[in-house]
Amino acid sequence: MGPNRLGIRKMTADDIPTVLEIDHQSFPVPWSERTYRLELTGNPSAHFFVAELSSGGTAKVVGYLGYWLIVDEAHISTLAVAPGMRRRGIGKQLLKTAFRSAGRQGADRVSLEVRASNADAIRMYESLGFELHSRKPEYYRDNGEDALVMILYDLLGWIEGVREV
Ligand SMILES: CC(C)(COP(=O)(O)OP(=O)(O)OC[C@H]1O[C@@H](n2cnc3c(N)ncnc32)[C@H](O)[C@@H]1OP(=O)(O)O)[C@@H](O)C(=O)NCCC(=O)NCCS
Repeated sequence: MGPNRLGIRKMTADDIPTVLEIDHQSFPVPWSERTYRLELTGNPSAHFFVAELSSGGTAKVVGYLGYWLIVDEAHISTLAVAPGMRRRGIGKQLLKTAFRSAGRQGADRVSLEVRASNADAIRMYESLGFELHSRKPEYYRDNGEDALVMILYDLLGWIEGVREV
């Protein structure tokens, strides 16, 4: 048995089946296996991490995050935590890992789109310093929902602040 340990590492192609499972449980329009493969192998601006829970000799992927580095901006492309593993700080941990990684790569801000009805995610982003930037009307094709564009403007300040703690 022993205690559970959460680690965050880069996603590999071997993680795709578990990531797809979580993706299907988390989003009305999940990404396809092909999309994940292309992102991991054919998109040099894409960076993906998984959160992995280890206990005893076994490890299980319980969440993942992707971002695209576009000049000085990191754009979160996807983020989800397995339904049974939410509210334990894993989503935040993934975001903090992405912040540090993107900061090292030269990003100075982080952007994302979130469904206007996704109160849980919006609260998480606000708690990390994201601010509402704008609204994209009827952005999601499956239900015509608006997207909120949220931005963390001072990524470098955020990284410095964490370092001082
Ligand atoms: C959004 C999501 C990734 C959050 O992951 P998580 O691991 O549960 O988040 P955390 O435990 O790190 O929560 C961080 C903070 O967000 C807020 N939050 C997250 N889920 C919440 C909920 N259900 N209710 C209220 N606040 C919530 C809280 O402020 C929380 O901090 P606290 O637990 O100290 O109060 C997860 O709910 C998920 O996978 N949702 C489905 C996919 C999705 O919507 N992804 C985002 C697309 S933009």
